[in-house]
Amino acid sequence: MGNNILKGKKGIIFGALDEKSIAWKVAEKAYDEGAQFVLTNVATAERFGKVKELAQKTNSEFIAADATKPEELEELFKKSMDILGGKIDFVLHSIGMSMNIRKGLQYHELNYNYYMKTLDVSAISFHKVMQTAFKLDAMNKGGSIVALTYIAAQRTFYGYNDMADAKALLESIARSFGYIFGKEKKVRVNTVSQSPVRTTAGQGIKQFGSLFDYAEKMSPLGNADGEDAANLVVMLFSDYTKRITMQNIYNDGGFSSMGVSEDFID
Ligand SMILES: NC(=O)c1ccc[n+]([C@@H]2O[C@H](COP(=O)([O-])OP(=O)(O)OC[C@H]3O[C@@H](n4cnc5c(N)ncnc54)[C@H](O)[C@@H]3O)[C@@H](O)[C@H]2O)c1
Repeated sequence: MGNNILKGKKGIIFGALDEKSIAWKVAEKAYDEGAQFVLTNVATAERFGKVKELAQKTNSEFIAADATKPEELEELFKKSMDILGGKIDFVLHSIGMSMNIRKGLQYHELNYNYYMKTLDVSAISFHKVMQTAFKLDAMNKGGSIVALTYIAAQRTFYGYNDMADAKALLESIARSFGYIFGKEKKVRVNTVSQSPVRTTAGQGIKQFGSLFDYAEKMSPLGNADGEDAANLVVMLFSDYTKRITMQNIYNDGGFSSMGVSEDFID
C-alpha cells in the first residue's frame, strides 16, 4: 500500500519489458501511489515481453511506439492525453540498447552503424521524447521527467562499452533540455544513476555478475535494486521534489563516493 503521493497524476512510462525491468517496478509503485499512466515500448516488447500483463495489473493501456521515431512519439503523446483525459505530469525514460554489446564487439572495435544506433536508442530518444512533449505542450506545470543512467557516464567501466558514451550524452541532454523545460514550462528533468540490476539490458553487459558483486562490495549500503529505483523515481514524480531539476541523482548505496572498501580488500 502506498501513500497516494501521486494521486491525480498522469504519466507515460517507457521501457517495461518483464517483471525484472526497472520501468516495471516504477509502474507498480506509481500505481500503488495513485497515479494513472500509459505504458509504452516497441511493438516487439508486446509480443516477446509481458507488458500486457503489467497493463492489466495496473489498470493501464499499452501503446506501442519506437522512441527513436518522432512521428510515433507524437501519436503516443496525443493518444495518451486522450486516454488520461488531459496533460501529462510525469514521464519515465527507461530505455537502453547496444548492438555492439550484443555482438560482443569491444570499445576499440566498435561498428559505427551500431554505435549510432546505441546513441539514438539510448540517448537521443530522450531528446526526441522531450521535444515531442514540448512541441505539443503536453506537460502540466510542475511536471517531472526522469531517465535512468549509469555511473559509466563519469568513469570507465570496461565492458559497458558504447553505452557509456550514450549515458554521458543522456545526462547532458537532461541538463540542456532541463533548463529550457524549467524556464518555459516549469517542468523538472532529472536522471537517476542506478546500481547494477539483474534485468535483460543489465545482464547483456560483459561479465555483469562480477560487476554486480564488485559494486555490492564497494557500496556501504549495498546495491540499490529495482524496487529502490522505483521508490526514488516515484518521489521524483511527486510534488515533494518540486525544485529538484537538472540533477543526476546517484541511487547506488554510496558506490559513487567510494575509493576502496574493507569488503573489497578482504
Ligand atoms: N540494469 C542495470 O544494471 C541498470 C543500471 C543503471 C541504469 N540502467 C538503465 O535502466 C534503463 C532500463 O533498463 P533495464 O535494466 O530495466 O532493462 P530492460 O531490458 O528491462 O529495459 C530496457 C527497455 O528498453 C526498451 N527499448 C529498446 N529499444 C527501444 C526503442 N527503440 N524504443 C522504445 N523502447 C526501447 C526495451 O524494449 C526494454 O523494455 C536503461 O536506460 C538502462 O541503461 C540499468
